Amino acid sequence: MKLRTAEQGQRFRYSDFGFREYRARGCPMEDKLKKVAQWIESAHRLIVFSGAGLSTESGIPDFRSPGGVWDRYNPEDFYFQNFLDSEASREKYWQMATEMYEPIKIARPNEAHLAIAELEKLGKLDCVITQNIDGLHFKAGNSEEKVIQLHGTAIFVSCLRCKKRYDRNEIQERIKAGQKAPRCDDCGGLLKPATISFGQSMPERETEEAYHRSSLCDLFIVVGSSLVVQPAASMPLVAKRSGAKLVIINRDPTPYDDMADLVVHGQAGSTMRGILDHVKQGTRTGN
Ligand code: APR
Repeated sequence: MKLRTAEQGQRFRYSDFGFREYRARGCPMEDKLKKVAQWIESAHRLIVFSGAGLSTESGIPDFRSPGGVWDRYNPEDFYFQNFLDSEASREKYWQMATEMYEPIKIARPNEAHLAIAELEKLGKLDCVITQNIDGLHFKAGNSEEKVIQLHGTAIFVSCLRCKKRYDRNEIQERIKAGQKAPRCDDCGGLLKPATISFGQSMPERETEEAYHRSSLCDLFIVVGSSLVVQPAASMPLVAKRSGAKLVIINRDPTPYDDMADLVVHGQAGSTMRGILDHVKQGTRTGN
């Protein structure tokens, strides 16, 4: 499995899925939040699927919004094969990765991360499937076993040959000291942040587990993703086709809005906090 854009992936006909009640324009936001809270209350297996839009309120730019990473860099330059092919590409990659790591290094979880962690504490969460590499779900309090990182992590670096792991900050110090594309101390192999680049093989265990849990869940909530990168973006479809309710919370429209049971075009932080408040109210009043 390789990380690829939708264009390279399979496209689905949205007419497969009929009209859904809570996407209707004009449905008051509060009613939508209450509805999601009720669905969380009655869900047996809730999955939260997160993308870069979840972390913008923590100061980390996303990829495809104006001012996002791919607004400043051409994604074609950062295919895994390029990294393997030339020193110049590796230096360019590390320059981009260093710029991306600055906000990640100092970021704090925001309201949306904290709400998702609280859903775990309340015993409502089956798992989080995340495309994010910033580790903020863990900083917010989600446990290791509940978070599936589909695109790896920026928090450490590994050697592509001997798999030796390095602390990211240690490697960033070497970059600051003038190394443009660091090598492994043990085997001289190429060092790369432990993230999954376009064209790089997906982590097999995580991808299989994410598909499996998506096929078993009964409520799937997308938070802050444009849903254009495969195979991650096919998880909501797997859930929907397996009978789950699909909720999409994203500032901008996504290609899957039409098949969702409820769509919120709003900020992740305030939306997730609002939903959590209703869940907690529901828990308190036993409704
Ligand atoms: N609240 C809600 N939605 C938001 C917010 C916010 N505060 N900020 C941004 N968004 C939305 C944007 O409207 C956008 O549609 O989040 C979405 C983020 O989409 P992308 O930037 O495409 O990020 P993502 O879906 O995670 O990208 C998938 O692509 O580049 C690769 O590997 C990278 O994991 C990444 C993958």
